[in-house]
Amino acid sequence: MEEITIHEFDFSLINEYFSELERQGPGSPKETIRALGFIGNLSNKARIADLGCGTGAQTMVLAQNTEATITALDLYAGSIDKLNATAEKLGLLNKVKGIVGSMDDLPFRNDEFDLIWSEGAIANIGFENGLNYWKKFLKKDGYVAVTYESWFTNERPIEIEKWWKDAVPEISTIAHNISIMQKTGYIPVAVFTLPESCWIDYFIPQKARQKEFLKKHAGNKTVENLIAFMRREADLYSKYKQYYGYVFYIGKKI
Ligand SMILES: C[S@@+](CC[C@H](N)C(=O)[O-])C[C@H]1O[C@@H](n2cnc3c(N)ncnc32)[C@H](O)[C@@H]1O
Repeated sequence: MEEITIHEFDFSLINEYFSELERQGPGSPKETIRALGFIGNLSNKARIADLGCGTGAQTMVLAQNTEATITALDLYAGSIDKLNATAEKLGLLNKVKGIVGSMDDLPFRNDEFDLIWSEGAIANIGFENGLNYWKKFLKKDGYVAVTYESWFTNERPIEIEKWWKDAVPEISTIAHNISIMQKTGYIPVAVFTLPESCWIDYFIPQKARQKEFLKKHAGNKTVENLIAFMRREADLYSKYKQYYGYVFYIGKKI
């Protein structure tokens, strides 16, 4: 039987499922702060763009750990509404603004940002394409920091290779991705893998969400398929986690 891929589900259905979860991809405040540690001091004049920000878990961490102001952008309006509400609740509206937009058609000026951040989202427009396109919005010596699905080994079992190739056709090894950073005009500053705990913390809250979502959409075959897909993602991770994961790539624009 042909396996279902993530591309068969409607974007708004995926976002409806995820927007009730604190995170929409693996990551944690600790790893966001660790990545920030490789970037020079960001004063209150500095500007950060957080692209594919989702509901803004990492955006709030950036706001609480730098002096900079942040423009957070996502294609899904529901997530941006949640992000702006969280910023208000945390008293961060003076530093954080969420806007709806697409990562491949940014409403920004050239040389506007000191730092472009993107956790778990660049694959939507392609790693090389994103790094290339975003560069002009960075000041000289500005930084890019992204997490991206990457292979840990040169070879993988066919089952997991196929799953990820369907989801992210460009998925590659860490070494290859570093060479793409260099090719697109960044000095690789630091590269580190996200720990397994980030994946566990991503999968665990989904269990309750899946039950709730199935109940809300009872009888909806597409929703049942989406939940089966999400459960399979978690099963495959526990089976094949030594072969892949999210990797933080931090580069400095030349
Ligand atoms: C895996 S989630 C990561 C969200 C968040 N950064 C996190 O780590 O929790 C990917 C996000 O990218 C957004 N996205 C997908 N395509 C996009 C595009 N072309 N422009 C902007 N955002 C996009 C989705 O709406 C989703 O919020």
